[in-house]
Amino acid sequence: MSSDLTPKIKFRLNGIDMEKEVPAGWTLLRYLREELGLTGTKCGCEIGECGACTVLMNGKPVNSCLVMAPQIENASIWTIEGVTPPGGTALHPVQKAFIECDAVHCGFCTPGMVMTTIGLLLQNKKPDNSQIKQALAGNLCRCTGYIQIFEAVRLAAAMISENDMRPFRENISEN
Ligand code: FES
Ligand code: FES
Repeated sequence: MSSDLTPKIKFRLNGIDMEKEVPAGWTLLRYLREELGLTGTKCGCEIGECGACTVLMNGKPVNSCLVMAPQIENASIWTIEGVTPPGGTALHPVQKAFIECDAVHCGFCTPGMVMTTIGLLLQNKKPDNSQIKQALAGNLCRCTGYIQIFEAVRLAAAMISENDMRPFRENISEN
């Protein structure tokens, strides 16, 4: 890790409270992947244009390539690794919907798509087609043509229960 570290900061990652020094000049994307080993968050453009690096920060989808690591102080961060229910034997309904609708081809965009979908459904349980398109406008997919992805979001909205979403609401601040 970089020698230019912040003093320890507190944050919550995938439902677990953490207190760590973080590299002052690193992006959250780099910190997740290179320091914490959470490589499910993908590194695409690194300039905020592809959405492959999307994570939830205080319940909202953000491009982790545009967030500096120290900015996560007191924030709740969810990555794709935290989406599968504890135990690792089942997928989250949003993940199941993507598989069911054949919305995963090479899979590179999928973690970001799933995180954006969860962020959308946290705010809006029954989004209409234009709201789905708008929410996913920042997530690029070079494989599917988007039709299956939009279907997956509609199916996920129909399948999820409040229980499926509750973990992502915990410790969400108002900022
Ligand atoms: S890697 Fe962050 S938006 Fe592309
Ligand atoms: S499935 Fe390949 S980029 Fe989306």
